[in-house]
Amino acid sequence: MSNVRLAVVYYSTYGTNHRMAQTAVEAAEAAGAEVRLRKAPETAPEGVVNGQDAWRAQAELTADIPEVTPADMEWANAYLFSAPTRYGVSASQLRAFIDTLGPLWSQGKLADKAVTAMTSANNAHGGQETTLIGLYTTMMHWGAIIVPPGYTDPVLKAAGGNPYGTTVTATGGELSDEIKAAIRHQTRRLVEFAGKIAG
Ligand SMILES: Cc1cc2nc3c(=O)[nH]c(=O)nc-3n(C[C@H](O)[C@H](O)[C@H](O)COP(=O)(O)O)c2cc1C
Repeated sequence: MSNVRLAVVYYSTYGTNHRMAQTAVEAAEAAGAEVRLRKAPETAPEGVVNGQDAWRAQAELTADIPEVTPADMEWANAYLFSAPTRYGVSASQLRAFIDTLGPLWSQGKLADKAVTAMTSANNAHGGQETTLIGLYTTMMHWGAIIVPPGYTDPVLKAAGGNPYGTTVTATGGELSDEIKAAIRHQTRRLVEFAGKIAG
């Protein structure tokens, strides 16, 4: 058992980021971390969610996963975020949760924690990097310690070679073995550095 308490916080409309988050959870637990899988609360009106079969199915599939709360953020000493790219930035559902964290931020309770992020988009160059950098910009305000994958393992190039974080292009289906390997590496690296920070 390590000294790492990891919150894997995701938002997913169609399942991609949910699968990415699940892969990260498995890797973090295998690395000895204590892990909480949490979803960002849905903010879209019920009628909109229920108006799309795929959206409704994903909501039903993940109904049992707890919604993330500020208490989870205080508990954790490491964060892994995963959310879809929307118009080149993170899905607003995750941003809406982040925007509730002002009180924790002002008390310094988000500082000194290791963080990394992942995303997906429909297009190969649809804004994955701006999404990740946008999330990391916020985390710099927290005083978080960003742990990007860089090119620290050959599996990352096989998964598309995004040094900012694992990104998935084809959405809606199962994750490829290459993407899973990249997520596992990114997660293990996060757990490793979170452990060093925790001492
Ligand atoms: C409102 C909206 C905006 C989107 N904007 C982008 C975009 O800027 N670039 C892109 O490649 N895909 C875009 N997409 C596709 C999403 O990134 C894709 O649905 C998402 O990655 C799927 O993740 P999920 O299965 O976890 O919901 C957009 C989708 C929606 C609904």
